[in-house]
Amino acid sequence: MNRPASASNTKQPGQLGAWAPFYDLTMKVLTLGRERALRQMEVDLSSAKVGDTVLEVGCGTGTLTLALAKQVGATGRVHGVDIAPQMIRVAGRKNTRADVPATFQVGRIERLPFPDATFDVAVCSFMIFHMPGNVRQRGLREISRVLRAGGTFLVVDTAALDPLSGPMAEVGLVETDTGTRKLGWLAPTARYLRATAHKDPPTDRTA
Ligand SMILES: C[S@@+](CC[C@H](N)C(=O)[O-])C[C@H]1O[C@@H](n2cnc3c(N)ncnc32)[C@H](O)[C@@H]1O
Repeated sequence: MNRPASASNTKQPGQLGAWAPFYDLTMKVLTLGRERALRQMEVDLSSAKVGDTVLEVGCGTGTLTLALAKQVGATGRVHGVDIAPQMIRVAGRKNTRADVPATFQVGRIERLPFPDATFDVAVCSFMIFHMPGNVRQRGLREISRVLRAGGTFLVVDTAALDPLSGPMAEVGLVETDTGTRKLGWLAPTARYLRATAHKDPPTDRTA
């Protein structure tokens, strides 16, 4: 279920490989022990359902990817992609212990290793601002390409998500709703944005 590294090893700003051994502990601290609630909230917001095919881009150590795999069940499929091989290695170890495994592979948002219209749902969780702006725009185009028409794109972050609306609309990802969720009075507020892939997905990978 875990594929070997396929993306180029060229370093890009935002690649958090060095954090891989500490990432889960960091999330535990940042969420004040409420990571499970955070992940369930993200699964609920994604609208992923039994049998769906789901992509998490920038999956890190795969905690959310595995929660999504549990949600879609044995008849669904969930893929986690991250630019950092170290993150994918940690995710792979967790995957071997999961009741419902996912597939993890090294890859970049700006060149997703999937055919057009593959996914019902795509998720970017705490990752969309971890890259240069030009890479983000190419990445949004790629997400639009790999989502089927009518598929759902969910972004979750602590940063304001309004700057994404215009760039998403340019590639056919039409915003449906935004909001905030508080996990506890001390934990940071999570913001979310959902969009629907409404069009014939663009196929030009060089734009
Ligand atoms: C803060 S972590 C978020 C991990 C996970 N999504 C979560 O919710 O905990 C951001 C991740 O995005 C990855 N990343 C950064 N730029 C990327 C890119 N261009 N393509 C794919 N992944 C990228 C980083 O390596 C890192 O694992």
